[in-house]
Amino acid sequence: MGAVMTVGLRGPLLMQDVIFTEEMAHFTRERIPERVVHARGAGAFGYFEVIYDITKYCKAKVFEKIGKRTPIAVRFSTTTGESGSADTLRDPRGFALKFYTEHGNWDLVGNNTPIFFIRDPLLFPSLSHAQKRNPQTHTRDPDALWDFITLRPESLHEITRLFSDHGIPDGFRYMDGYGNHAFKLVNAAGKAVYCKFHYKSKQGIKNLSPEKAEALAGSDPDYALRDLYDAIARGDFPSWTLCIQVMTFEEAEKLHFNPFDITKVWPEEDFPLIPVGTLTLNRNPVNYFAEVEQIAFAPSNMVPGIEPSPDKMLHGRLFAYPDAQRYRLGVNFNQIPVNSPKNAKVANFERDGFMAMGDNQGNGPNYHPNSFGGPEDDPQFRTTVFNACGDVDRYDTGDEDNTSQVRRFYLEVLKEDERQRLSQNLAASLKGAQLFIQKKAVKLFTEVHPDYGARVQAELDKLNAKTGTAELYQRTDDKPSPYQINTR
Ligand code: HEM
Repeated sequence: MGAVMTVGLRGPLLMQDVIFTEEMAHFTRERIPERVVHARGAGAFGYFEVIYDITKYCKAKVFEKIGKRTPIAVRFSTTTGESGSADTLRDPRGFALKFYTEHGNWDLVGNNTPIFFIRDPLLFPSLSHAQKRNPQTHTRDPDALWDFITLRPESLHEITRLFSDHGIPDGFRYMDGYGNHAFKLVNAAGKAVYCKFHYKSKQGIKNLSPEKAEALAGSDPDYALRDLYDAIARGDFPSWTLCIQVMTFEEAEKLHFNPFDITKVWPEEDFPLIPVGTLTLNRNPVNYFAEVEQIAFAPSNMVPGIEPSPDKMLHGRLFAYPDAQRYRLGVNFNQIPVNSPKNAKVANFERDGFMAMGDNQGNGPNYHPNSFGGPEDDPQFRTTVFNACGDVDRYDTGDEDNTSQVRRFYLEVLKEDERQRLSQNLAASLKGAQLFIQKKAVKLFTEVHPDYGARVQAELDKLNAKTGTAELYQRTDDKPSPYQINTR
C-alpha cells in the first residue's frame, strides 16, 4: 500500500489515490451501534452434551439422546456499562447461549441471577434509563436508580441479590446462569409442562469484594474478558451443568404465587433441579467483531419442543431483540455466519434487503402457499394449542407479594457476615441519593425484615455523618431537594 500519493515529496494529495479514499472511507464507518444494554461482553464457543434423558418432557433435537453433542455459542456481559466500561462493576451478568440445532437455532438469553428487577416489559426502558446516565450530566445518577427502585418494590429481590456478595462475580467462569423465565417444554406426544433452566458452574462460585473490584476497574478493566480468553487458550475449558425445574400445568394452577412472575424463583424443595447435560467452552473467537460483536441472541429463537410460557416479560423480549438487531446489524443479521443456523437449512419467505448474503435462497418460491417445493407447514413445527381469555386492561402488578422471597433470601440464604456486607454495599450506593429517597428505601427494606432496614439505616447514618449528605438534604424529609441536579 505504501504512503499516500502526493505531488512531490511535500506536495498535496491526488484524488486518484483510491487506496487512500477507500482506506479512509472504510475507517470512518467502522463503528456500529453497540447493544443498548449488555454492550460490554466476551464470547466463546463449544458444545452441549446430553448426560440425562429428558425426552419424557421435551422433544427438542438438542435433548434427543444421551451423549448427543450440539455446538453452542456463549456471550457473557455486564448489563449497564458501555462497550468500553470496566468488567468489575456491580451489575447483573448476562449469560446468553445459542444452540445450533438441526431444527434451527435455540437461544437461551439469561443472566447470572435467577430473577429480574421488574415483571412488566413496559417498564424495561425506564429501568435501563434509571440505571444508565442522567440526561443532563451524562453521569450515573443514584437519585434516578433509587427513585425507580423505591417506586417499583418488585425490584427488591433482584436489588438484594445484586448488592449481596454475588453482585460482583470474579470473572465469568465462577458464576451460575439462569434462563430466568418459565418456558414450556413439549414432548413427542404433544404433552407440555412448564420449565425453568439453570446452568451450574463446575468451576464453583467466586465473587470479588467491592474493594478488589474497584481496584481492578482502575488497574485491569478487561479483567473478565482476559480471564475467559486465557483459560480457554490454555485448555482449561470452563463448563456448566444444565439443569431444569419442571412444573405441571396443574401445579401451576394451584401455586400460591404467579409462576410466570420473573421476580420470583421456583423453590427448589418443591421443584427440584433435574440435571440434563454439560455446556463446555473450548474455542475462543478468531475475530471478536465477526463472532462476538455481531452475534445476535434472541429469546424468540425457539425450536420445536420449547415454547414461551405466559410470562409477559418474555413476551416483551420476543419483540425487542430481533428489533434491536435489525437496527444494530441490519435487516439480514441472521445471515451473518455466527447467527445463521449451522445444522438446519433456512427455508422461509424472507428475501432481499441490505446486505443479503449467500444465494438469497436462490430460485426457491418466495410466497406462501405455493406448489413449487415449499417450505410449507410441517406438523412437527406446530406449536401446542392453548386456551387464552380474559379482560383486556393495563394491569399494574406492582403490588403483588414483593417481600416473601426476599425475606427468605435474607434470613435463610445469607449468613450474618453476608447480611452485614449487603447493608454496607446498599448504603454505599444509596448515600448518593436524596434523603427522601433513602428513607423510602429503608422503609422497603424494613418491610422485608426490620433487621434489614435497621442495618441499612445504621450504615447510612455512618456514611451520611461522614459526607454531610444528610445535612445537605435536611431541608425536607419527603420532598425532592432543591439541590437535585435534575430540576424537572
Ligand atoms: C422486557 C424486558 C427486556 C427487554 C426489552 C430487553 C432488551 C434487550 C435488548 C434490546 C438487548 C440488546 C440485544 C442486541 O442488540 O443484540 C438485550 C440484551 C440482553 N438482555 Fe435483555 N431485555 C429484557 C430483559 C432481560 C432479561 C429478563 C434478561 C435476563 C434475565 C436479559 C438478558 C439479556 C442479555 C444476556 C443480553 C445480551 C445478549 C448478548 O450477549 O448479546 N434481558 N436486552
